[in-house]
Amino acid sequence: MKSRMKILVVFYSRSGNTRKTGQEIAKTLRADADEIMEKEDRGGLLGYMKGGMDALSNKKSELVGGGKDASEYDLVIIGTPVWAARLPPPVRAYADANRGKVKKFAAFCTCGGSGGKQNFKEMERILGLGAQATLEVYEREVKSGAYAEKVAGFCGKL
Ligand SMILES: Cc1cc2nc3c(=O)[nH]c(=O)nc-3n(C[C@H](O)[C@H](O)[C@H](O)COP(=O)(O)O)c2cc1C
Repeated sequence: MKSRMKILVVFYSRSGNTRKTGQEIAKTLRADADEIMEKEDRGGLLGYMKGGMDALSNKKSELVGGGKDASEYDLVIIGTPVWAARLPPPVRAYADANRGKVKKFAAFCTCGGSGGKQNFKEMERILGLGAQATLEVYEREVKSGAYAEKVAGFCGKL
């Protein structure tokens, strides 16, 4: 990593896994961190089910709060959970709103078992950029702590 690089780690998290991973990445890279917030309440079983359906129909959420200005950073690292093998609506909305503002990006996801690669491709398509590096972390690795080693490897590529 070039020491002068200004880095933003931005993530959405419904149940904490992507937040935990994002915070570890930000700490490792001494980067700014920012959470993507949306209007929709995704709590409970109903929130889970609607979330899956919204992701499947490629919905974009209404975001809350301005957040940090992505155009002020040399590198933006976007973190997302995998929902029904798709991007969650708030992450789709964030990527869409920041096309042209993000100059360089890397991406990470957390998931139960699979779907990360499709999400990385979709982010690349929306942003019109290739990812510098990607990282797929499994939920069980967040719980066990094994994610830390993967995070270190990912950060080392940037
Ligand atoms: C609506 C919904 C759909 C999901 N679909 C998938 C999936 O298709 N594949 C998968 O591996 N995990 C899936 N998961 C599990 C999440 O990706 C996983 O728990 C992730 O770590 C959650 O991140 P978070 O704690 O930051 O919200 C889904 C979770 C939710 C809430």
